[in-house]
Amino acid sequence: MALRPGLEGVPVTQSAICDIDGLKGTLTYRGFPIDELSVHSSFLETAYLLIWGDLPNPQQLRDFEAEVQMHRRVSFRVRDMMKCFPATGHPMDALQSSAASLGLFYSRRAIDNPQYVYDAVVRLIAKIPTMVAAFQLIRKGQDPIQPRDDLAYSANFLYMLTEREQDPLAARIFDRCLILHAEHSLNASTFSARVTASTLTDPYAVVASAVGTLAGPLHGGANEDVLAMLEEIGTPTQAGTYLDNAISNKRKIMGFGHREYRVKDPRATILQGLAEELFARFGKDEMYDVAQAVEKEAALRLGSKGIYPNVDFYSGLVYRKLGIPRDLFTPVFAISRVAGWLAHWREQLGANRIFRPSQIYTGVNLRSWVPAEERKTASET
Ligand code: SDX
Repeated sequence: MALRPGLEGVPVTQSAICDIDGLKGTLTYRGFPIDELSVHSSFLETAYLLIWGDLPNPQQLRDFEAEVQMHRRVSFRVRDMMKCFPATGHPMDALQSSAASLGLFYSRRAIDNPQYVYDAVVRLIAKIPTMVAAFQLIRKGQDPIQPRDDLAYSANFLYMLTEREQDPLAARIFDRCLILHAEHSLNASTFSARVTASTLTDPYAVVASAVGTLAGPLHGGANEDVLAMLEEIGTPTQAGTYLDNAISNKRKIMGFGHREYRVKDPRATILQGLAEELFARFGKDEMYDVAQAVEKEAALRLGSKGIYPNVDFYSGLVYRKLGIPRDLFTPVFAISRVAGWLAHWREQLGANRIFRPSQIYTGVNLRSWVPAEERKTASET
């Protein structure tokens, strides 16, 4: 079999969770179009759908929401551990460490027990926002604030993060962002989750694996870099020059391109709409005009190669308007994507075979060991 760098186009599993049509620019979760879910659903309802395969009935949803609410708190041991992290550390490293530490508190490898699986799903979905918000306050030298049981999932996260109750529109738009980022078939971090799950380790290690993968600038980390790019460009009239310079220097335009999509990522379109809704209520972000100019100029230069905005291009403008610090954009991505990772974790367990692909060896041929004094020095080779 020929080498396929990055496994491009290689199906490595069967999955019923999410379907992407990269040519039409469509995305469905368990058969439901993303644009319908982002309008009508909630993140917790969507997480339930992704993980258990169907929309919950009213009782199932109430029970799931109540369970998640009951498990939002995080042990003082985890909080104290986070107080030892350097305040200058990246929040994705703090999240990866704290997510992995959850595995120290719960029995490992009871993964054939449905109750253990349910409990792990609830704990991870409930505690990851709390840990993201906790590190934000801890790195400012403050004690983290406890979750508020009277606030729904997204409103509570924004409260724990900003120490103030958000406008209901802001909380709803944030919840819709979480729906949009929850799942995207076999992206790099979900593939990491499946590979880790295939060794039958615990779900906390699976999520820690995926968080580390999502942190990279080619994957979840791009949303931070997009804002920096827009600020570097400065004004809409500079967009074309910036792009020409980047392209001639073979630099990737952050927030553009996708392994699957050959048209604009449908999530980017919806996020653009959410940004405009926020700007209408809370004032416009001056970088929005720059972003639109970049999108227009990029279409002229890269559209023929199927390179258009992806999910990371507009998300940063939404998060900044919501008062989320830039280096927390990717942890917010992780808060959402943990639903997809857990859906794939369950699916992998249902039909598991440990991932162990092959390779094409390109190293040196067979040779024997020689004593150090007989080895050539660098100048002799
Ligand atoms: C996410 O997979 C997922 O589903 C991911 C994600 C999810 O929901 O999980 O959608 C989330 O990760 C979105 C992507 C965020 N990353 C970025 O915005 C970083 C910039 N984008 C690129 O690095 C790139 O587009 C990738 C990584 C997203 C996809 O890379 P591929 O599929 O490996 O494509 P490639 O790097 O092989 O590029 C193919 C060609 C190259 O040109 P040629 O050498 O063939 O002439 O397209 C060019 C690339 O130079 N290209 C770009 C480009 N992306 C691809 N050129 C300029 N800018 C870009 N952004």
